[in-house]
Amino acid sequence: MKRLWRGGRLVSLQGESGWGLIEDGALLTDGARILWVGLSSGLPPEAAGVEVHELGGALVTPGLVDCHTHLVYAGDRCQEFELRLHGASYAEIAQAGGGIRSTVIATRAATEAQLLAAAVPRARALIAEGVTTVEIKSGYGLSAESEARMLRVARSLALQGLEVRTTYLGAHAVPPEFEGRSDDYVDAVCDWLPGLHAEGLVDAVDAFCEHIAFSPAQVMRVFEAARQLGLPVKLHAEQLSDQGGSQLAAAFNALSCDHLEYLSDAGVSALATAGSVAVLLPGAYYALRETRLPPVGALRSAGVPIAIATDHNPGSSPTLSPLLMLNMACVLFRLTPEEALRGMTVNAARALGLTDRGRLAAGQRADFCVWDASHPRELTAYFGRNPLRQRVFEGNA
Ligand code: NIG
Ligand code: FE
Repeated sequence: MKRLWRGGRLVSLQGESGWGLIEDGALLTDGARILWVGLSSGLPPEAAGVEVHELGGALVTPGLVDCHTHLVYAGDRCQEFELRLHGASYAEIAQAGGGIRSTVIATRAATEAQLLAAAVPRARALIAEGVTTVEIKSGYGLSAESEARMLRVARSLALQGLEVRTTYLGAHAVPPEFEGRSDDYVDAVCDWLPGLHAEGLVDAVDAFCEHIAFSPAQVMRVFEAARQLGLPVKLHAEQLSDQGGSQLAAAFNALSCDHLEYLSDAGVSALATAGSVAVLLPGAYYALRETRLPPVGALRSAGVPIAIATDHNPGSSPTLSPLLMLNMACVLFRLTPEEALRGMTVNAARALGLTDRGRLAAGQRADFCVWDASHPRELTAYFGRNPLRQRVFEGNA
């Protein structure tokens, strides 16, 4: 089914920089793909006689890609929010048995139906702000069975009208039954991967490289297991300290390294050489009241692509607002509005190994957003406001 969308202000993001603005632009879609993009005044012959949608001068951007979330879990951690307000740090709460581990206990106790019921409204909140592709990590099950359950629930969220990419994050924390035996747990994480992969549940493999989680040597073993199956890797790296995780991830041609507040110059160079994306997570920076900024200037000069994501999770980043993250990326991290929008479209897609989305161009997926805005910078300047008029997913409004 072909559809024509005309009379919009298209933010195509074509080319390596700039907005790629097309004034009075039109998009011709054929099913789930974009067939043609150009001026409303220069339509191709294929546009004749198709269903027409008038955009009335509205702004059109590619659909948003949230490339780092922990959307599937049970329970909440608002008590930790209070503890942090009273001075406890994220690391102290984790070391005292709270943090990720408390979400693991709640998630293990939940049925697949309960996990899904909790995750659907979260997915809908992202959709309501224009997200068309979301990445969802496991990592609150930490057993073969409960990691699989999380990933199945993540996959089934696609029924909400969303593209879901799943990431296996077995190496997120050491579960209680492996207390003091983290190397044995890493063995188990590696052993579970082939089965999860055979079930079609894994698009990428991630780990948390940190003094309160896993060492680079342990992460390397997980990455080797991924490599054996031909699976791409990404890493929670340099969030609380510089562990050199980014250099390790780059050696495995990681799709991305995420967080990066404590990234060193050597880490920046390694990411640049490997072509890995730096995924910055302003929600976690903000909620943890981190004061060390990720090295945005160095990443920019080295030509490392920068992405922005919600990192939605019940602990460090309990936000469901990708638009707020665009604003925070500018205000807190000093990204330009264009860098922020590229960070949640084309560069976020790249952080997932995807090149078929994130721009408005022929051949790309027909996933886009129509906004009540006149310039794309408005999407980053306002916060706590949602100007989404219409979200088109796979060519359907
Ligand atoms: O991306 N840093 C590790 N993992 C998550 C937090 C998970 C949690 O606290 O539940 C993050 O910030
Ligand atoms: Fe995360």
